[in-house]
Amino acid sequence: MSVAKILVGVTGGIAAYKSCELVRLLVKAGHDVVPLVTDGADRFVRRETFFALARREPREDLYAHLTRADLYVIAPLTANTLAKLAHGIADNLLSEAALAHRGPLLVAPAMNPRMWASSATQANVAAIRARGIELIGPDEGEMAEGEWGVGRMSEPEEIFEACAGLLAKREQLLGRRVLVTAGGTREPLDDVRFVGNRSSGRMGVALAEEARRRGAEVTLVAANLTVPSPGGVELVPASTAADVEREVLARAVDADVVVMAVAVADYRPAEVVAGKRGKDTGAWTLELEPTTDVLRTLGERDGGPLLVGFAAESGGGIDRARQKLTDKRANLVVFNDVSREDIGFDSEENEVTLIGRDGERRVEKTPKRAVAGAILDEVARLLEEADGRGR
Ligand code: CTP
Repeated sequence: MSVAKILVGVTGGIAAYKSCELVRLLVKAGHDVVPLVTDGADRFVRRETFFALARREPREDLYAHLTRADLYVIAPLTANTLAKLAHGIADNLLSEAALAHRGPLLVAPAMNPRMWASSATQANVAAIRARGIELIGPDEGEMAEGEWGVGRMSEPEEIFEACAGLLAKREQLLGRRVLVTAGGTREPLDDVRFVGNRSSGRMGVALAEEARRRGAEVTLVAANLTVPSPGGVELVPASTAADVEREVLARAVDADVVVMAVAVADYRPAEVVAGKRGKDTGAWTLELEPTTDVLRTLGERDGGPLLVGFAAESGGGIDRARQKLTDKRANLVVFNDVSREDIGFDSEENEVTLIGRDGERRVEKTPKRAVAGAILDEVARLLEEADGRGR
């Protein structure tokens, strides 16, 4: 792993003594560590100890929370600071740094098992997970107070390994050009009406953000997003299937990967009424004509980018998704069941199966950001394999 600047937050729990070892391991690996120790933590292990291990002068830096870092790890994380993270409360250097930090944040909770199991804590855990904060532990075991259960902080070596994993991810797609499409197309009927679909663009946006976090140069072809578009990517608006076709086909030649998360209309009105169509007493009969299948067109090109398609099927249509992999000559198809209300279209979470040419992998229901991570892990693996074959 390359050398990084790492903020280590320590909050007030008995497990604070184990964080000394975490700081030691990080420093030994060559990292530049900045300890952020709360007053509560200082009651267990003196702040000076962490500074000594980090080989820094213990000083009151007014702006320590604004230090730009590659990684922020909070270990141990108390129930109290967990609640602050969940609600954006910033009342000390450590919690202020959590708001200001722009990279991966890893937390290692440690608390009494009953506190961990409480519904308030679990709601806070769900909230920080959905925001992309990574959790490690807590583990099951005997607590300092003698109680048994889930609440022990993970071992420093495990936290260190998790840090190494997150730092490696930052560079996983370095130098790769990733073209992501997101949203859903709108096919005009007249100047004010359209035929559209329910795709919000959340999944595609999560993919674009995650690819950027992993070092890729990202272009996002965005069709009518109902969620905010991410920063740090090239944004190309495309409203209709024809727009998506034009923008994607032109840009795909320069890309290493094309991710087709956009829901493209398969049909569009054959005729678009100029102005606003007035109401009359008769029926309005529409004729729909097929659009170009963008993914299929890309698949027909030789030596093109790695292709990732989505298969939104209703009711157990995994076989159709498998068929799409071969028919469209994609490298990976992400299957999701759109008949379920709790996942997929317009929801925060997704549950998918990644269908590759060499096997399948199921990703259990989890926030779309984590699904994006799993998809990009697979993409990175396929890119490396292709490099090995001398693509
Ligand atoms: N797709 C595309 N161009 C289209 C339609 C779909 O590039 N005109 C892409 C989508 O972005 C997605 C994949 O093809 O990555 C599969 O889309 P889906 O709508 O599930 O499949 P279809 O091939 O349209 O088949 P069907 O609607 O019959 O399931």
